Amino acid sequence: MPDDVPPGPFPGSAAAPARAAGDGLATLSVVIDGTQVHAAPGETLLQAARRAGVTIPTLCHDERLAPTGACRMCLVESSDSRRMVPACRHPVAEGLEVVTDSARVHRHRQSLLSLYAADAPEGVKPGTELDRHMRTYGLEPGLPQVNAPREGRPDDDNKYVLFQPESCILCARCTRYCDEVEAVAAITLAERGSATTIATADNVSLLDSTCELCGGCIDTCPTGALVERKVAHRQDTFPSLKPVRTTCNYCGVGCQFDLQVDPAANQVVRVTSPAPGTTTNDGNLCVKGRFAYGFIGHPERLTEPLIRDASGELVPTDWDTALQRAADLLTGVRDKFGKDTLGFISSSRCTNEENYLVQKLARAAFGTNNCHQCAAT
Ligand code: SF4
Ligand code: SF4
Ligand code: FES
Repeated sequence: MPDDVPPGPFPGSAAAPARAAGDGLATLSVVIDGTQVHAAPGETLLQAARRAGVTIPTLCHDERLAPTGACRMCLVESSDSRRMVPACRHPVAEGLEVVTDSARVHRHRQSLLSLYAADAPEGVKPGTELDRHMRTYGLEPGLPQVNAPREGRPDDDNKYVLFQPESCILCARCTRYCDEVEAVAAITLAERGSATTIATADNVSLLDSTCELCGGCIDTCPTGALVERKVAHRQDTFPSLKPVRTTCNYCGVGCQFDLQVDPAANQVVRVTSPAPGTTTNDGNLCVKGRFAYGFIGHPERLTEPLIRDASGELVPTDWDTALQRAADLLTGVRDKFGKDTLGFISSSRCTNEENYLVQKLARAAFGTNNCHQCAAT
């Protein structure tokens, strides 16, 4: 923003009662949009504002990452600076007076978003953070498209993560996530100026890099420039998908995720993690939880019990018949060879309750302690 724009009004600290402090260490007092807010040393304006219920739009910010101040979406007016400051990395200080929603701030948000729109030749992906900000603040002035093509990795044919450079705003959330959270640093910012892009070392495929295919870079990307390759062609329909919260059953950690369901087709289209800070997995998933959901609608998935007929072929049957057959055969083995010739193996793909019942069946019904579960190894 030009320096000659006068700072907005800074309301007096007595304008409103103090909001609740974040914790017992909140020893500083700042005024945000006329409301006194207590904050702890080291906190940022963004953290103090959010605790006070004040919304400041962000793009490069992710609670899990060290703030970088790359996107400039969160600029606000602060009494300690003539220029606007990035709320995501500007520290609180005693007596600061901050304005987050003045005409000057609003003008900045529109101008910035106009620049991002001008650099998105394919348009902005619907439902993304960038799209939501554009709908909230508008684009003023409208700017012509700029010609600043960025190189992607056209030869990277990994089946999971697709990078669409034309939608990238270079916020570096993906590279910082990969480094700071996943701790593998498979991707990095490369090149300079308008050619800056996201690359791997030597531009190799993610499969040939240190990438663990966690998909966290997809989840944190605020523009949809990173997307799951298998469903990239459906990206415009993502906002119409309905999230169904569930627990991953690949291991015993209990990560929460949202199955994104196409209600019309009754089909799981993709898997996303709940927002950071809301569940135990803190916005993270592993390769299995995020990408290995194809079994849900797989045509070979068992949906009814099977028993072998006289010729040994597996044929469908009803549950009563299948359970009776299993009971007869297990009882027959126990009676003929002894209880400890039986063994019961359950699965981490089952619920805790189901696993409990399997060991109960082994111990109480058949009198053997021969029971195990695949996650116990
Ligand atoms: S999938 Fe995970 S490990 Fe691979 S580049 Fe993305 S964040 Fe890094
Ligand atoms: S790919 Fe997404 S997360 Fe990574 S720098 Fe570009 S916009 Fe940011
Ligand atoms: S969110 Fe603060 S500069 Fe990007």
